[in-house]
Parts: sequence; structure tokens; C-alpha cells
Amino acid sequence: MKKLVKVLLAVLLSLTFFGCQQQPKTKEVKIGVAIYQFNDNFMTLYRNDIQKYFDDLNAKDSSVHYTVEIVDGANDVNTQTEQVRTFISKGVDALIVNLVQTTSDALAKEIVNSGIPCVFINREIADFNYGDKTCYVGADARDSGTYQGQIIYNVPNHGDLNGDGTVSYIMIMGDPENTDAQYRTEFSIKYLTDNGVTVENLFQQTGNWDQAQGQELVGNALATHGDKIEVVFCNNDGMALGAYEAIKAAGRTVGTDIYLVGVDALPECCEMVKAGTMTGTVLNDDKGQATACCDTVLQLLAGQAPAKKVNYVPYVMVTKDNADDYLK
Ligand code: GAL
Repeated sequence: MKKLVKVLLAVLLSLTFFGCQQQPKTKEVKIGVAIYQFNDNFMTLYRNDIQKYFDDLNAKDSSVHYTVEIVDGANDVNTQTEQVRTFISKGVDALIVNLVQTTSDALAKEIVNSGIPCVFINREIADFNYGDKTCYVGADARDSGTYQGQIIYNVPNHGDLNGDGTVSYIMIMGDPENTDAQYRTEFSIKYLTDNGVTVENLFQQTGNWDQAQGQELVGNALATHGDKIEVVFCNNDGMALGAYEAIKAAGRTVGTDIYLVGVDALPECCEMVKAGTMTGTVLNDDKGQATACCDTVLQLLAGQAPAKKVNYVPYVMVTKDNADDYLK
């Protein structure tokens, strides 16, 4: 009897084992994703969107299985170079690369020379010569700056709260090597001056896209310039979140005695715009960019040339009127 039970158990086990064996996938595709730094609010949304895109594909179609490996460059060029070289030597089928450094094209050239299809994202190298298998997906940072300027232009008296004829502002910059930081700094103010607004720059420093640094800098600026500050421009929402804490701590009230703008339209900032605790932000369309990036990866994998070498996904101005649209 015992023997019979044992035999039956063995049969059952082997049936379960073979039954659980998945049908062999017809194709296994490996994608290496190198992110400049995981500790970045916007790039966190973006990398989750990339992962979700391929998870959805895997769920929909079992004939191809995408394995996505996402690594953190920790904002260090050497770390990222090693990570990309490892992807190349492992023979990944495609790469998605968010460069740590865009002032040098050394790593980008190495990628082009490897012959592995690659979509560069979010950090653009000026005038880079993309080969047939590489391209860039991002957004035109000039527009995001212009929208920030427009948001301030549209508030009462164009932001001149004390009525002295000058809009006195502070500028909290992202990584200064980055074109996003440079253009947002330039074009936000350009929109005001092009439209006849007189401005005064009280303070301009880099907070490296980081919330804690943004808070510290705005705290310092408020301690030095106090009520003179009418507008706080932040190159991104992460730093605007920090700026808001410093503004609150200084006893100031956004929308009443100071204005605050960012870029990215992080969900928490859209909530703040809706509530009036941020004057406005600009949608940096992580989902749109991730979709464009992953669609392009599929085209490259299929041997097609990218439709555009540089593909810009549009920014959208976000104020109280439309903040709800970006909370969905
Ligand atoms: C910008 C974004 C920032 C930061 C930066 C990283 O486009 O607005 O929040 O993520 O990219 O390069």
C-alpha cells in the first residue's frame, strides 16, 4: 500500500513539474537600461514606465520575452561606463541609456561602435553624430523654460507683488552641465523680458535637481533677501518641493506674497498646483517619452532605422486650470 502511495505521489509530482514547465518562448530579448541616478524623482517615474512597457508586452504576447535589466549609475561617470561595458560584453540585444555626463561623448561613441541598438534618453549630447542604430528621445527644454515664464507672466502684475516695477526672482538650477538646466534658466526669464517685464536676479545657484539641496538654497536665499523675493523659479519639481518647505518655514504664502514654479508635473506637484501651494509646473511627459523610447527600441530591434534621430516629446504648461488632467 505504502509503495503504491509513493508511486502515485511520484507520478503526481512529475506531472505537476512538467505541467508547470512553460512552453519554450520563441525569442528571448535582453534590454539593458542605464539610468544616470535612481535617486531622482522624474527618472524614477520614467524607469518605472519603461519597465511597465515591457511587462505589458510580455503579458500580451508570449512569443517574445523581454528581460529588462535597469541599473543605477549613481551619478558617477565611471560607474556608468562599467555598467554599459558589462551590458555590451553580456551581449544585450538593445540598450536604453540616460547618460551621467553629456559634456563628453566618449561613452556614447563606444555604444555606437558596439553596433548594439541604443536609444539615449533625457540627457542630450549637443550635435552628436548618431549612427544608424542609435537615436535620442527627449524634450526641447527651451519650451519648458518658456512655459515657466508664461505662468509667471499670467499672474497679477506679471509677478511684481510689491509694485516696484521689477520682478525680483531667485533661480534654483539643476545640474549646470545639463542643457535642461541651462535652457530652463535662460528661457523662463527670456519670456518675461521679451514681453517687456523688468526683472532682477537676486540669487542663482545649483541644487542639482535635488529636493534637499533646493530646500537649503531657498532657505538661504530667503534668509538673505527676505520679502524682496517675489518669484522662485526651480528648474524641476523635485527642487520646488524643497523650495516649498523653505517658503513655509519662512512664513511666506505661495500665491499671496510669493510665486513658485517648477518643471516635471510630478503627481505631488500637480496636487499642489491644484491646491494653490505651487503657482504652476510644466508636464515633462515621462509616459510619452518612455513610450516613444520603447517603441523606438522595438523598431531598432526589427532592423528599422529610427524615424527621427532626435525625437522631442512636447511639454505642456500646467496651472490650476488643467492640473487635474495630469493627476489621472
Ligand atoms: C530633467 C528633469 C529633472 C531631472 C533631470 C535629470 O528633464 O526635469 O527633474 O530628472 O531631467 O537629467
